[in-house]
Amino acid sequence: MQELEAQQAETLGQINAAETAEAVEAIRVAALGKQGWVSALLKTLGGMTPEQRQSEGPRIHAAREAVTAAIAERKDALESAALEARLAAEKIDLTLPAPEAPKGSVHPVSQVMDELAEIFADMGFAVASGPEIEDDWHNFTALNMPETHPARAMHDTFYFPDRDAEGREMLLRTHTSPVQIRTMLSQGAPLRIIAPGRVYRSDSDATHTPMFHQVEGLVIDKGIHLGHLKWTLETFLKAFFERDDIVLRLRPSYFPFTEPSVEVDVGYTLVGGKRVLGGTEGWMELLGSGMVNRRVIEMGGLDPDEWQGFAFGVGVDRLAMLKYGMDDLRAFFDGDARWLQHYGFNALDVPTLSGGVGVRA
Ligand code: PHE
Repeated sequence: MQELEAQQAETLGQINAAETAEAVEAIRVAALGKQGWVSALLKTLGGMTPEQRQSEGPRIHAAREAVTAAIAERKDALESAALEARLAAEKIDLTLPAPEAPKGSVHPVSQVMDELAEIFADMGFAVASGPEIEDDWHNFTALNMPETHPARAMHDTFYFPDRDAEGREMLLRTHTSPVQIRTMLSQGAPLRIIAPGRVYRSDSDATHTPMFHQVEGLVIDKGIHLGHLKWTLETFLKAFFERDDIVLRLRPSYFPFTEPSVEVDVGYTLVGGKRVLGGTEGWMELLGSGMVNRRVIEMGGLDPDEWQGFAFGVGVDRLAMLKYGMDDLRAFFDGDARWLQHYGFNALDVPTLSGGVGVRA
């Protein structure tokens, strides 16, 4: 078995002398490949007596590990050297003029979020945000969904395998509602915010993608009632769809974090077989909302006898589809340049109340 040491030393020498990734690969095949000498030695283990195996096994495995490690190290070194050489050789001429027609475009989701911020800013709302990697307390418990609550199962949540340092279960937020809790805790009351952002659910077909966008709205103040909610949504939707004939229908519903809860439908008219928002020929479901549950106000660190509020949550992608006429949600996230060219917005078309998303009193 002296040869083992000799062969190992020879292989290690070859690895260190190899100048290209291909050379290293050839050495790897000669040693660790199916016909390689290490593999051949490993096969001899089967025919040994238990005593022989006990002394030879560790030596052969050690040789395999030494060769494997040397190969990985050499490959790394060659790759960094190649990268260094490429970085030294390539350059970009930043003085080249930009193409005459701008190539990029603003994604409809970004455009709609800008429009929402503009419309709600006019009504005194600030923009708030929260993390996409949430803990289970903010996403569920504080929103009146304790561990055993059946609504949790309906969210098709992506959980992380490990808990965080404080032992909390971590997940990708399933809605923007945890921002309600975070904002109440950090800012207190009164409060007027919208919180646009990405949310995640394990769901996928023509109208569902595992990642999508919502915007949350939250008002906390004294003497807030359903009338404020209805006026706010009406004013928002008329401004957003740029039509005065938007009609809302409020239906009783259930969310653990609002009481009462209200599902909001918006009326449409059929024009040449297509649904156009406005009028009352038919109804489509648009968003969930309600008066903030007393328990949620408490979880936000506020006294529900003093403060009331309303909240709503609406799909940003859905708003974009309804306003700009796309019909397949999946195309939003394909990154197809033709789609972006067609549906994207010019970076200089900043939505403003006077120029594009006018609030009409
Ligand atoms: N978070 C709810 C959802 O994702 C929507 C909602 C928000 C409902 C705020 C009521 C109040 O379905």
